[in-house]
Amino acid sequence: MKKTVFFILSILSVSILFSFSFQDDLAASIKKGSNIYASNCIACHMESGEGMAGVFPPLKGSDYLKDKKKIIAAMLNGLQGEITVNGKKYNNAMPASGLNNKEIADVLTYVNNTWGNKGARITEQEVAAQRKKK
Ligand code: HEC
Repeated sequence: MKKTVFFILSILSVSILFSFSFQDDLAASIKKGSNIYASNCIACHMESGEGMAGVFPPLKGSDYLKDKKKIIAAMLNGLQGEITVNGKKYNNAMPASGLNNKEIADVLTYVNNTWGNKGARITEQEVAAQRKKK
């Protein structure tokens, strides 16, 4: 009986510790992402991710962000031609970011989780896998 209680307690504490460290990771990724955003994206997508009507699509509240693969590809290869964001058409060009896998993961995780956005976390591994395929 004592053993079982001990066992359950240790599983519990390990999982609690694990979930804390996961949240720390997420917070750290968002923080790094915000610095990367400030030096690489802000000029076009603006400080609050609002973009510029008809020229630079918004990131704040963007429905385009739902597709992880598409936004990772946009960072790796750039993006040009007509796209629709929140029902509005844009036909412009964004150059490839030139960032490494970790930086792309951080900046996209930041964009997905700021200005009220609540999107997925993007990991370095996901970016690496997609870079290999291209
Ligand atoms: C030189 C201006 C410029 C810079 C710098 C830039 N973008 Fe873009 N971005 C654009 C344009 C223009 C489009 C739309 C391209 C099109 O019309 O096909 C776009 C599209 C996007 C999209 C998909 C559409 C949307 O609004 O959700 C995402 C996501 C995105 N950019 C993220 C970023 C991130 C993150 C950075 C920084 C690493 C960045 N961009 C840097 C100009 C820029």
